Amino acid sequence: MNILIVGNGGREHALAWKLTQSPRVQCIYVAPGNAGTAGHNVEIAADDIPALLAFARENQVDLTIVGPEAPLAAGIVDTFLAAGLRAFGPKRAAAKLEASKLFSKSIMRASGVPTASFAVFDAFDQALRFARALPFGSAPACVVKADGLAAGKGVFVCDDADAAEAALRRIMLEREFGEAGAHVIIEERLSGREVSLLAFCDGARAVLMPPARDHKRIGDGDTGPNTGGMGAYAPAPDVSPGLLRDAQRLVFEPILEAMRAQGTPYVGVLYAGLMLLPSLGGRAEHVSVLEFNCRFGDPETQVILPLLETDLADVLTACIDGALNQVEVAWRPGAAATVVLASGGYPGPYEKGLPVHGLSDVPADVTVFHAGTDTQGNQVLTRGGRVLNVTATGADLPEALARAYAGVSAIHFDGMQYRSDIGGHSAPGVAR
Ligand code: AMP
Ligand code: GLY
Repeated sequence: MNILIVGNGGREHALAWKLTQSPRVQCIYVAPGNAGTAGHNVEIAADDIPALLAFARENQVDLTIVGPEAPLAAGIVDTFLAAGLRAFGPKRAAAKLEASKLFSKSIMRASGVPTASFAVFDAFDQALRFARALPFGSAPACVVKADGLAAGKGVFVCDDADAAEAALRRIMLEREFGEAGAHVIIEERLSGREVSLLAFCDGARAVLMPPARDHKRIGDGDTGPNTGGMGAYAPAPDVSPGLLRDAQRLVFEPILEAMRAQGTPYVGVLYAGLMLLPSLGGRAEHVSVLEFNCRFGDPETQVILPLLETDLADVLTACIDGALNQVEVAWRPGAAATVVLASGGYPGPYEKGLPVHGLSDVPADVTVFHAGTDTQGNQVLTRGGRVLNVTATGADLPEALARAYAGVSAIHFDGMQYRSDIGGHSAPGVAR
């Protein structure tokens, strides 16, 4: 079977790496890919749907797997299916679970899925009046969110009314996120531990992957600005089997049921960003949904796929065929961890095109997934903010982390920065 993977990050490199282990897979193409997928790359942008379709037709692609949310929200899967080609991911109407927070909050409310209470506004004055009337100073404060896709930047966690006003101005008046800011959601601010819970979905069933946790802030101890993710590990040891059962029963099953009932069944990976809320008055710890994503997470995928025992090609085709009950999705024991090596200055402005050294000195038990890299001859160069994902598995999380950090110490580029505390690790002698 020939496979086309759409995207160019660490997630897509990890998908390609996993699929090369499948005896069913002959050719893998990545559009547009990075230095880690060199030899498989096709120069087509991830959002150029007509060119991707033409390529898939001309090259007998049997299965297209879509990494990022933008082409899914734009209807790439609808286009491929209409042309008689198989593509993994939700159709446009189902991708609204990520592409519109108004849609996802409404469907959660209607189907009783636990999520923060919220109100929706399309007029700045009304939104501001509502925010100003909130009981700031005592919990709960609020979170202001642009309705549409904003590349992860449209969410503002606000401590006071002035912060809420500033967020509303940026989203609704300055239209920093364009049409994504036509509606805003103001929601109750929750506090607890976050976890990323992803599931393979075939329209009727959800098969959970091991719970993963990413680290969004740039600095150790969760300090500094947010990033696309500075590292991740799986499984998150604090997520009990009881919480996973709750998530299956209270989140995934009702959402799949609601999507099916409205004629837009959900096929693909459904990623629930969950808050684990502390026990209260005899009630056990419980889950609340912060957001849905309609795709594999990045960098979560880099720590989930190394734990997958089953052939990924079998799982993805079973999702498309509505036959997830016919594959046993098995996971390896142990844990996986990934440490992101980022460009100096990221998430602010950073230099590009710097040579990356030491990739061939990385120990054999470490896998380096590339994210923002390019090649010039045989030399790998930095191209993005997040450059590499240094990844390892182990019998337990400390072993996986020790291996990943041993890999980190072999690699160097000018300005390289990384977190030394992924998964609670403490790495000595960290260059920052
Ligand atoms: P979202 O894109 O909706 O997941 O929001 C991005 C990040 O904002 C989440 O990962 C949380 O860290 C934070 N966040 C979102 N909603 C809430 C909430 N209701 N309470 C507290 N933090 C939140
Ligand atoms: N790791 C966050 C995301 O993939 O959206």
